[in-house]
Amino acid sequence: MQKLTLNKAVFPVAGLGTRFLPATKAQPKEMLPVVDKPLIQYAVEEAYSAGIRHMIFVTGRNKRAIEDHFDTAYELENELEVAGKQELLAMVRSMQPEDMDFSYVRQPRSLGLGHAVLCAEHLVGNEPFAVLLADDLMVGEAGGATVLAQMAAQFASLQQSILAVQEVPADHTRRYGIVAADAAGADLLKIRAIVEKPAPEVAPSRMGVAGRYILTPAIFGHIRRQSAGVGGELQLTDGIASLLADEAVYALPYRGKRYDCGSKQGFLEATVELALQHPEVGAQFRSYLQSLKLD
Ligand code: G1P
Repeated sequence: MQKLTLNKAVFPVAGLGTRFLPATKAQPKEMLPVVDKPLIQYAVEEAYSAGIRHMIFVTGRNKRAIEDHFDTAYELENELEVAGKQELLAMVRSMQPEDMDFSYVRQPRSLGLGHAVLCAEHLVGNEPFAVLLADDLMVGEAGGATVLAQMAAQFASLQQSILAVQEVPADHTRRYGIVAADAAGADLLKIRAIVEKPAPEVAPSRMGVAGRYILTPAIFGHIRRQSAGVGGELQLTDGIASLLADEAVYALPYRGKRYDCGSKQGFLEATVELALQHPEVGAQFRSYLQSLKLD
């Protein structure tokens, strides 16, 4: 049988970002920068690192800045060229490598993550695809593969859906899709059940789904058969639970760190930790933090 290759990524970016008001009143939450790069660019670069070349954004009203961010900026490029700022020019141009394609589709109403994924169905077609939630900023281990690249490497041999998982505190199960899974070889789990945001008393485990998925196109039919779930929304998790009846779905406890940039605390942690690693500001920022008298 011919091997399936992963070439498409779906970025659901229609959410309102109410947890970051007033910052997100007139700009998309995915454009909030961690140090000097917007959250959405971290996610797109991660997809690219996994061999994906077609980026599909499920967008909404007030999200135009995302399209502009990944478009050519003629005036800016011209000014940088005239000013001889070659390094900045190269950086701006490197954001759209020639082999990268972008598509945009609108999600007209906030009907949930499952609905957002369905909005991309006609652009994905009958191919496996990744889903990246830009709120979850994922950083692989130093010198190692990115989280999605780790998943893509597993997909190359498994050819089945794979979710990124991490252990979460018992009192946080209400924030995640939680899986029940069995060991399936080194580093990998096979999912038995998955449930969206269960209370700790009924959670099947403490393995929570982080915002990275590789899915087979069979998921579309399964999402379509669901009715509204947690929060009255069409949940991707419910579609995956239904997919389990037909196909194997795996979970990868990834190597790396997840920052929940949908929350202020996670966003601040990402900002501090990534600033410390930043080649330009890292050393000075470290001295600054050391100089703070915290008690
Ligand atoms: C979504 C998913 C949830 C997953 C989480 C990861 O929830 O529905 O299953 O664990 O992303 O960040 P949200 O954070 O959008 O409420």
